[in-house]
Amino acid sequence: MTAFANEIIAWQKLYGRHDLPWQTKLNQAPDPYAIWVSEIMLQQTQVAAVIGYYAKFMLRFPNIKTLGNATQDEVLQHWSGLGYYSRARNLHNAAQKIMDDFSGKFPDKFEDILNLPGIGRSTAAAISTFAFNQPMPILDGNVKRVFARHFNVAGWPSLPKIEAEMWQIATRENPHMDAIAYTQGLMDLGATLCTRSKPKCLACPVNASCAALALDIVSQLPTPKPRKAIPERSIYFLVHKNGNDILLEKRASTGIWGGLWSFPETETLPNNSEENMQMLPKFTHTFTHFKLHIQPVLVQSAEQAIMPNSLWIGIDEAIEAAIPTPVRKILFGLNNKKSS
Ligand code: ADE
Repeated sequence: MTAFANEIIAWQKLYGRHDLPWQTKLNQAPDPYAIWVSEIMLQQTQVAAVIGYYAKFMLRFPNIKTLGNATQDEVLQHWSGLGYYSRARNLHNAAQKIMDDFSGKFPDKFEDILNLPGIGRSTAAAISTFAFNQPMPILDGNVKRVFARHFNVAGWPSLPKIEAEMWQIATRENPHMDAIAYTQGLMDLGATLCTRSKPKCLACPVNASCAALALDIVSQLPTPKPRKAIPERSIYFLVHKNGNDILLEKRASTGIWGGLWSFPETETLPNNSEENMQMLPKFTHTFTHFKLHIQPVLVQSAEQAIMPNSLWIGIDEAIEAAIPTPVRKILFGLNNKKSS
């Protein structure tokens, strides 16, 4: 075992996280399903944001069968607010695939795990390690940051050439013993000490061998992504309202918010003089890859006209549905106006 792995393991056992709800408890068998759900939720999302969603999700979908048998709409409803909704659609599809191809039992072979929808090499490795104690190297965003600093790897870590170099490091350092503590330790170190800004190098178990610390270039690593200007888009949300009901439209299954319920969206304002329109406060929703400027337009409707792929629904009920965050924000605004 390398000295790096040895230090990470010792540190994890003393200072790492041991009480996360998906972690295997002492004297209990691991639940591969729980570990899988958690690893998908934790992709691009911090533990603190995931905890509440995870608890509700596991109450409603306690096992592969309940998830596979649910409708996509209900799965998206339990994901509503977490973002990156393809994760939820893939999770649902994967549960059905496990029912069909593996008799409902989560596969324990790395290749089979990797072949499930929504599971890349690092997630497959984390599940393989945590659920089946079959150590495989991981490499997520946090781990890339730890490696870039500790082993002084310059260049944006998601460039194929740099990423290949990082996988070599991950493979070289991965221990054959105590792999669960090592893997969790790498994640914990990246999340709690080796943070993007203000890293706590004094408390780091591998500071003595950290190349970036020795060279005083911790703040320069990892090398940031070469930035292109973020594309921006401006749209109108048409908030058709009749009494306490509003109109929601089911979005196409591909593209942003695929399969979620949203307001009808247009790029230009419809000049419909028969309808009573009122501009609501404009705001911007920022995604990883672009900015969306949203102008909600309240359209007081005299009747509940039926439109394709749409339904009229009470505002309170809509807030609980499979809707994207900006839609929920607007619905909360409508509710406040109602009560004031
Ligand atoms: N991020 C990804 N997987 C994680 C895990 N198992 N524990 C904490 N953070 C994580």
